[in-house]
Amino acid sequence: MGLFRRSAVDVIAAILVVSLEVYSWGFSNELGSIKVEAFQFTPNYKDALSKTILFFEGQRSGKLPADQRMKWRSDSALDDGQTIGVDLSGGYYDAGDNVKFGFPMAFTTTILAWSAVEFSHDMGDEAKNAYTAIRWGSDYLLKASSQIDDNILHVQVGDPYSDHSCWERPEDMDTLRTVATINASKPGSEVAGETAAALAASSLAFKSLDHGYSQLLLNRAIQVFEFADKYRGSYNVSVGYFSCPFYCDFNGYMDELLWGAVWLYKATEDEKYWDYVSNNIKLISNQFLDGQFGWDGKHAAIYVLISKKLFQEDPSHSLLKKANVFVCQLMPESPEKAIEYSPGGLIYKGASNMQNPAALSLILLVFSRYLESSSRTVQCGKITIKPSRLVEVARSQADYMLGKNPQNMSYMVGYGDRFPQRLHHRGSSVPSIKSLPEKIICHSVKERAIFMREEPNPNLLVGAIVGGPNLTDIYTDDRALFNQTEPTTYINAPMVGVFAYFSHSQKK
Ligand SMILES: *[C@@H]1O[C@H](CO)[C@@H](O)[C@H](O)[C@H]1NC(C)=O
Ligand SMILES: *[C@@H]1O[C@H](CO)[C@@H](O)[C@H](O)[C@H]1NC(C)=O
Ligand SMILES: *[C@@H]1O[C@H](CO)[C@@H](O)[C@H](O)[C@H]1NC(C)=O
Ligand SMILES: *[C@@H]1O[C@H](CO)[C@@H](O)[C@H](O)[C@H]1NC(C)=O
Ligand SMILES: *[C@@H]1O[C@H](CO)[C@@H](O)[C@H](O)[C@H]1NC(C)=O
Repeated sequence: MGLFRRSAVDVIAAILVVSLEVYSWGFSNELGSIKVEAFQFTPNYKDALSKTILFFEGQRSGKLPADQRMKWRSDSALDDGQTIGVDLSGGYYDAGDNVKFGFPMAFTTTILAWSAVEFSHDMGDEAKNAYTAIRWGSDYLLKASSQIDDNILHVQVGDPYSDHSCWERPEDMDTLRTVATINASKPGSEVAGETAAALAASSLAFKSLDHGYSQLLLNRAIQVFEFADKYRGSYNVSVGYFSCPFYCDFNGYMDELLWGAVWLYKATEDEKYWDYVSNNIKLISNQFLDGQFGWDGKHAAIYVLISKKLFQEDPSHSLLKKANVFVCQLMPESPEKAIEYSPGGLIYKGASNMQNPAALSLILLVFSRYLESSSRTVQCGKITIKPSRLVEVARSQADYMLGKNPQNMSYMVGYGDRFPQRLHHRGSSVPSIKSLPEKIICHSVKERAIFMREEPNPNLLVGAIVGGPNLTDIYTDDRALFNQTEPTTYINAPMVGVFAYFSHSQKK
């Protein structure tokens, strides 16, 4: 979803296009020219996994640690929260801009944590980097929820209108860092519900690694969930234009409340959360399923997650049909297919599309495991779908991203011989503050020239997976086309789990 998202970027792109001035100066780019010979496709899932995780270092906000590997980045936004007397430094920039949107950041953290809960055993040496990536998110969410005793949750830092109208590096941005907050009279059950899910899922991920931290996360998750559930409303309304049209909650907040409850059930094993799910799931059961899984809709993933327990305890439960519907709507050979694929085989659902095949591949793999462990298949009309078929479809999406596609190119920066060069990403596109320390002023000639330049971005945002090609498998590597060239944290997060799964099976 997110149809209206980044409309403000659209505007600056248009302004920049009409005001193009010929202007150039010397700074080197590390990429050189693109190789044009036929691309040999040989997936290296281990390499893909390690790069997918590394990307998160490029999205870091706040004080960077000494072991930061994405070297062209530096500290940024250290004063976030100071206008309201709270430390809100840290966390992740969501995409190619410098806003910290709480809703997708919480979702990203939930999915990173889920990837670890489900697949950390497949990650080898990369597990420690994956946990670091989760913690960068969960540490921030602890800060954002530090006043939850008073029913206060901070849900965004950065004015998106101010931010999107400038093409500035995070390190020297001077746009407004306004904080958006929800409370009892201005609630936001979707963003609070997702934050509770993220804290609970992270708690589970850290359970055997760091008991104290895990407990801290869990206690906070419980409080944030109570707040989300007790004070119901959408942040669309409470925070208003500041968050929506960027990350509008299109399909209501009930899915996030259920999602939060499912994760709390998994983390606490307290039946009261299971009862909450059982009693309330009917409130979303009439909503369209059609592969809804992303920062807005959690539907398909909720049905997949609860199926594990139902398979074990109540295998004839009517809710199990829902996960089957999800599979039957997705499988290319299914008579009930409702999801579109490009001719080259990529799941296609629209704007910033790669988030869809990424998220759906993760739940295909998770569900295939649940089916496998209860010796089940899925029936779609007359067609029987085996768990291994779910894995095949997930693999086709992962392979497409890595180069098995009509363009013969990888959609992950730094992976393979040919990959996106002109990311819609401020940090990657503006020369590093380390090589060009002078300030780049918003709306200056130089700023516009940087945005417009034909040359590849100077800083390699290794591991970034971009929005990707359109429905006919065409990719246009143009910085202004954010639907295609912008990376986001919620494209990469599920691919951590997906590449972990395939890197493990590749070893054998
Ligand atoms: C919630 O925040 C709004 C400002 O956004 C404020 O006017 C209101 O008094 C706050 N409500 C409570 C219960 O603190
Ligand atoms: C949030 O805003 C979007 C866009 O205006 C709208 O479609 C949606 O119904 C709103 N959601 C809620 C829960 O109010
Ligand atoms: C991005 O995709 C959305 C949804 O398909 C569309 O409305 C919008 O015009 C696209 N923007 C650009 C710049 O292609
Ligand atoms: C991709 O590779 C295939 C097989 O080598 C080739 O037939 C096709 O023309 C290539 N496509 C592009 C866009 O380079
Ligand atoms: C994909 O992009 C190409 C190049 O811009 C265009 O010709 C084609 O019509 C687009 N396909 C769709 C389905 O929009």
